[in-house]
Amino acid sequence: MAQPKIPFNRPSLVGRELAYIEDAIARGQLSGDGHYTKACNAEIARTTGAKAALLTHSCTAALEMSAILCDLAVGDEVILPSFTFVSTANAVALRGATPVFADIDPDTLNIDPAAVAAAVTPHTRAIIAVHYAGFPADMDALAAIAKDHNLVLIEDAAQAYGSTYKGRPAGSLGDMAAFSFHETKNIISGEGGALTVNRADLVERAEIIREKGTNRARFFRGQVDKYTWVDLGSSFLPGELIAAFLFGQLAEEGEIRRRRLAQYSRYHDAFAPLAAEGCVQLPKVPPETTGNGHMFYLLMHDIDQRDAFIAYLKSRGITAPFHYVPLHSAPAGLKFGRTAGTMNVTDDISARLVRLPMFFSLDQDIEEVIAVVLDWFRQV
Ligand SMILES: Cc1ncc(COP(=O)(O)O)c(C=O)c1O
Repeated sequence: MAQPKIPFNRPSLVGRELAYIEDAIARGQLSGDGHYTKACNAEIARTTGAKAALLTHSCTAALEMSAILCDLAVGDEVILPSFTFVSTANAVALRGATPVFADIDPDTLNIDPAAVAAAVTPHTRAIIAVHYAGFPADMDALAAIAKDHNLVLIEDAAQAYGSTYKGRPAGSLGDMAAFSFHETKNIISGEGGALTVNRADLVERAEIIREKGTNRARFFRGQVDKYTWVDLGSSFLPGELIAAFLFGQLAEEGEIRRRRLAQYSRYHDAFAPLAAEGCVQLPKVPPETTGNGHMFYLLMHDIDQRDAFIAYLKSRGITAPFHYVPLHSAPAGLKFGRTAGTMNVTDDISARLVRLPMFFSLDQDIEEVIAVVLDWFRQV
């Protein structure tokens, strides 16, 4: 298949990734929890202000760890948006618990605290807030609901590394948070992720769950003289080659964010006149947040217009995907989940949203994307 002229995403080297991989090999440990994993953990904890950070092989893994940490079981419920990636709900369903889908706010596309409050039942154990497009959800409102009902508050911060809410970094806003370093995110290692933990009482258990349910981390710290199976767990940690690559990226987080925010502003400025004429809607920045330039999307009038727009961009060599297909009406969502209240905003937004290319090395190609988008709006 011919490569698009301008792909949706192109992974880039941004710093010393290859040198760190060579160094990891020279150090003689390729399995997990070596020098570079520890360096990444420390850097992620520093950037997010979290109590502890644990590298995982994906955000999916970090979400599954959080579900184990909550001791979710059959009959328990977890409130989350339907407008998210499947991993947010899978983590809950894998424990036998029920994902309860709540609608999103039409301005921020983040879970609507009023819908969450209405969805709470005596079976609710946790809330998972997805920070959509890298903009944190309204965490103070969600924390108040969690406090009132004694619920665990989890951030699905897959897209939000480097973002803030009321001056506090994503990853430090809930009891725990899951990050993604998948190649489509800002900071990448192919596949990759991290769990940050903000409750001191959960840190050691998180280490155990990540190391196949063993107390291996305590053994390496010399706190026990042998390690053994002490809890549920799985193999959630990445090897050192991934960690070494990631460390090279983490070191450049500021520059990556700066570039992406510049792309976000360029798109925004270019399309603001279209939005002013009512041709399209642009993303709105949620109050009291700073984003990380993760994503730029357009909201078209309806699904037919969106599909025609995507096809036009494709004909001009530009890949522009849409997401998310709502989970509440997906086959597995119907089987494992439950919908609380209406899903009008989720259904509406998911039919109209289209994402534009955004990646570290987009550079001058952004001008071509803008020109092609403007061409399309001129001809409709
Ligand atoms: C909101 C959200 N959560 C979780 C994930 C899963 O991330 P990963 O691919 O690192 O497992 C994604 C992936 O795009 C996501 O968008």
